[in-house]
Amino acid sequence: MIILKSSEDVERIRAACRIVAGALARLREAIKPGITTESLDAAAEEYIIKHGGKPAFKGYLGYPKSLCASINEVVVHGIPSGRVLKEGEIIGLDLGAVVDGFYGDAAITVPVGDISPELKKLLEVTEASLYRGIEKAVTGNRVSDISNAVQVYSESFGYSVVREFVGHGIGRSLHEEPQVPNFGPPGQGPRLKAGMTIAIEPMINMGKSGTVIMKDGWTAVTVDRMPSAHFEHTIAVTESGPVILTAA
Ligand code: MF3
Ligand code: CO
Repeated sequence: MIILKSSEDVERIRAACRIVAGALARLREAIKPGITTESLDAAAEEYIIKHGGKPAFKGYLGYPKSLCASINEVVVHGIPSGRVLKEGEIIGLDLGAVVDGFYGDAAITVPVGDISPELKKLLEVTEASLYRGIEKAVTGNRVSDISNAVQVYSESFGYSVVREFVGHGIGRSLHEEPQVPNFGPPGQGPRLKAGMTIAIEPMINMGKSGTVIMKDGWTAVTVDRMPSAHFEHTIAVTESGPVILTAA
C-alpha cells in the first residue's frame, strides 16, 4: 500500500530532509585525505542531534552507525571505521534522519582531493541520472518512468545500473512502498500521485552491474571491484511537479 501524505506530513518530512541535507553539506566540506570515515560518522550524528533529529540508520536492522560511507568499489552500506581517506578516492555518503516520526534520506558521492577524469565523469553522470529520474516524478507518470530515465541516461555513457538495491517510498518509515528501481521499461508500476514521497537513488557502476555483500553482512561491493557512485534525494510528488526535499 502506498501511503499518500498530507501537506502537514510533507512539512515534517521536509524538516528531517533539511537536517540530512545540512549534514551532508557539512560532511562534503570535511572530506580530505587523512581523515577517517568514523570521524565523518561522528560529525553526521552530532549535526543531526544538534538540529533536533535522530539518526535514522543507527540500529535499523542492526546497522551499527549513523552514516553509510562507501569508498570506491563499495556500492552502498559501507560501515564507518578507522579507514583513512586517500587522495584520488571517491566516497559515497548516505544519511537519514527522523524528526517528529518522519524520515528524510539522501546521499552524495564526493571526491577525496583530486580524482581522475574517469571518476569525475562517473560522479557527474550518476548525479545527472538522479535528476533525469526526478524529472519524471510527475503526476500521471508511472514509477518505472523514473527507473527507465535513470537507466537510459547512465547506460548511454557505458555504465551499468545496480539491480539489487532500489529507491523507495518514505514517510513514517524509512522504507515504504513503492520500490523505485533504477532500471526497467517505462510505463510500468504504480501511477504517481500528488502526496507521494519517494527516495530516488541511482547506484551506477563503471564496470559490471553485479554486487556482492561482504562478510560484515552490510558492505556491498561491485563484483568486478570497479568504482561505483550513488546519489539520492527524497522528493515529494505534487500537482506542480516534483519537489526535492533534501535540496542543499
Ligand atoms: N539510503 C539507504 C536506503 O535507503 C540507507 C539504508 S542504510 C541502513 O536503504 F543502514 F539504514 F540500512
Ligand atoms: Co534510501
